[in-house]
Amino acid sequence: MLKTICYISDSREYESLENVKKIYTKAKQNNLKLNITGILIYQNGNFLQVLEGHEEQVDKTYEKIRNDSRHRNIIKVINNTIEQRIFEDYNFGFSIIKSSQEFNELNDYLNWLKHADNKIANKVILMVENFIGIIS
Ligand SMILES: Cc1cc2nc3c(=O)[nH]c(=O)nc-3n(C[C@H](O)[C@H](O)[C@H](O)COP(=O)(O)O)c2cc1C
Repeated sequence: MLKTICYISDSREYESLENVKKIYTKAKQNNLKLNITGILIYQNGNFLQVLEGHEEQVDKTYEKIRNDSRHRNIIKVINNTIEQRIFEDYNFGFSIIKSSQEFNELNDYLNWLKHADNKIANKVILMVENFIGIIS
């Protein structure tokens, strides 16, 4: 069964850009192996992540992330089974959103996704839009 988990969290105050890069590299590597798709955004000291994939892999990965001391105040906002993935065809499945160009591309993609009128997808879209401050 496929599922998605979306959470937001605060990075530790001392988290440097160098450390954030290490998180990105690890996340990409592991998620590719486990066929986990989604996005990871870091903005103004906060993370937002969407994970999607097979239930067991997503739950296991989330447990690892939840116990990671490099962030705190982790709030799980969405935890649902899904019929299909949203980010499978976006940037090879798992992307890190950091430059303004990447934010714009993500925004275009989310606007396009809205046509699918999928309830869970719309929840995810709303959450990501609020996080990145794009009200469309
Ligand atoms: C904000 C944040 C996001 C993370 N995202 C992922 C992720 O998507 N996939 C992943 O495997 N690890 C992610 N990690 C790292 C995990 O917490 C953990 O360090 C890593 O999965 C351990 O991998 P290993 O078991 O291969 O050593 C993230 C960590 C942080 C702080």
